[in-house]
Amino acid sequence: MAQAIAEGAEGAKNSLFVGDKEKYVQEMFSGIASRYDLMNDVLSLRQHYNWRKLAVSLANVKAGDTCLDVCTGTGDFALDLAKAVTQTGRVVASDFCEPMIRNGLHKLPTASAPVTMMVSNAEALPYSSDRFDAVTVGFGIRNVAHIDCALREMTRVAKPGGRVVILEFNRPRQKWYKPFVDFYLFRILPRIGGLFSRREAYTYLPESMKQFVSREKLESLMREAGLRDISIRDLNFGTVCIHIGTKPLRSETEARS
Ligand SMILES: C[S@@+](CC[C@H](N)C(=O)[O-])C[C@H]1O[C@@H](n2cnc3c(N)ncnc32)[C@H](O)[C@@H]1O
Repeated sequence: MAQAIAEGAEGAKNSLFVGDKEKYVQEMFSGIASRYDLMNDVLSLRQHYNWRKLAVSLANVKAGDTCLDVCTGTGDFALDLAKAVTQTGRVVASDFCEPMIRNGLHKLPTASAPVTMMVSNAEALPYSSDRFDAVTVGFGIRNVAHIDCALREMTRVAKPGGRVVILEFNRPRQKWYKPFVDFYLFRILPRIGGLFSRREAYTYLPESMKQFVSREKLESLMREAGLRDISIRDLNFGTVCIHIGTKPLRSETEARS
C-alpha cells in the first residue's frame, strides 16, 4: 500500500487531507466542473494556456508520438499534446472525475490528433507498461492522494526513453515575493472564486498549494519513481514549475544494477 505523501512545502504535516482526500477531491471537482475553464481563465488571466504549451515543447513531444495526460480535467493539456503529435500521433486523456471529462468532451472535434478521454485513477492506470512517449499531468499531482503511487504509475506506462512531465503550482523562491502571493491566494482568489463558482474550491486551492511538496522534494519523488535526468523550470516567479524526467532505457537500468 502506498504511503500518503504528508510532508508539506514547509515540511509541516499535511493534516488537511489525510484520510479521505480522494473522495473530497472527486466531489469538489464534480461541483465546479462546469465553471472550471472559466475560472482558470479568470484566475490566471489566461496564462494557463501558455504554461501547458511550454511544458509540451520542453518535453520534446513530436509528430507521431503517443501521449497520456493524467488528471486531465477538461482536457486542455491533451489538446496541446494533440497539436504536437499531429494526425499521425495519438493522445489518451484520463481523469477520475467524470463531470470534468464530460465538460471537456465538446473540445475534441477541434483536436489536431485523435484524443480519447476516459475515466481512470492516476494511481492505478489501466494501461500496459512502456506504452507512451510522454506522460503529462497539469495541476493534478497536487490533488492526488498518494503522489508516490501516481508517479510510479506514470513512470511505468512511459516507454523507456519517454518523458514524465509535471506542471504544477509551487512556492516562489524569492522571499520578498511570498507575501504578495499569499495575499492573492488567501484573500483575493477565494473571493473571486466565490463570485463565479463554489468558494470552498478556491479556499482548497491555496491550502493545497501551501501543503504541496517543495520542488526539490518533488524531484526526489520522481527519482524514487525511477525517473532520471530531471529538469526543473520555474515560471511566473516560481509560482508554477515544470518538472521533466526521463525513464531510463533498459540498457541503462541493467548497467546500474
Ligand atoms: C486542477 S484540475 C487540473 C485539470 C487539468 N489537468 C488542467 O491542466 O487544467 C485537477 C484534476 O485532477 C483530477 N484528479 C485528482 N486526483 C486524481 C486521481 N487520483 N486520478 C485521476 N484524476 C485525479 C481531478 O479530478 C481534477 O480534474
